[in-house]
Amino acid sequence: EFHLHPKEVSFASDGPLGKFDRQQLQRGFQVYKEVCSACHSLHQVAFRDLKDLGFTDAEVKAIAKNWATEVPSINPETGEPATRKGTPADKIPAPYANEVAARAANNNALPPDLSLMAKARHDGGAYIYSLLTGYQDQPAELLKHFPDAKTPASLHYNPYFANLNLAMPPPLAADGQVTYADGTKSTVDQMAKDVSAFLIWTAEPKLEKRHATGIAVLGFLLIATILAYLSYRNIWAGIK
Ligand code: HEM
Repeated sequence: EFHLHPKEVSFASDGPLGKFDRQQLQRGFQVYKEVCSACHSLHQVAFRDLKDLGFTDAEVKAIAKNWATEVPSINPETGEPATRKGTPADKIPAPYANEVAARAANNNALPPDLSLMAKARHDGGAYIYSLLTGYQDQPAELLKHFPDAKTPASLHYNPYFANLNLAMPPPLAADGQVTYADGTKSTVDQMAKDVSAFLIWTAEPKLEKRHATGIAVLGFLLIATILAYLSYRNIWAGIK
């Protein structure tokens, strides 16, 4: 068995009381923006959603305006397709115009949209973290048993990927690849954790609301149970 379960890794949003670490989400967004967004879209996320990470209106406006890819549009004079600068109301623009362009740039592989990746894969946050930090040489044992499984030149061995051989080259290859705005040391491990935390947020931005609702429901049920017990005692008090 060469395919591995995700590594043990914890996130602030874990558990029934979990909350996002906003500082970490901002760092994760920075990794997405500077590394992943070259190949992966995030089409469920609008720039203005980033306010939830603690960015101000002015910061969001600047992020949208300076995004590497412009927003598809139409030239009002000629009616021809054109592009324009992003605004906070726009979804984050995809790096490629369409699937053909995406495949052409990636050896015929298709970088999937990452918006819901943390939900699409089992134990998504830990999975993304493991995938990003899991590239390694193919074990000799595997080649001994399955010589045909030798990683082709255009792919990369990664035991956390179900197929073992992945079309994505290691995106986080060196410490310091991103210079964090908050001064955190950007080791590969840190960047992988931060971008995974960010993708947990994109997949479920209302996670904290859900947790708070769960706690409120448990509180209500507890009080209802106590009341029910007290009325039971009261109703049966006179009966021996
Ligand atoms: C696939 C994450 C950067 C190209 C994937 C998958 C994830 C992911 C979660 C899906 C694996 C699966 O299906 O289970 C990331 C993150 C990045 C990043 C978090 C930034 C840190 C990049 C970059 C490129 C790229 C820069 C292009 C140079 C691809 C391709 C696939 C892929 C082609 C499809 C792989 C396959 O189906 O074999 N990525 N990625 N990724 N990524 Fe990335």
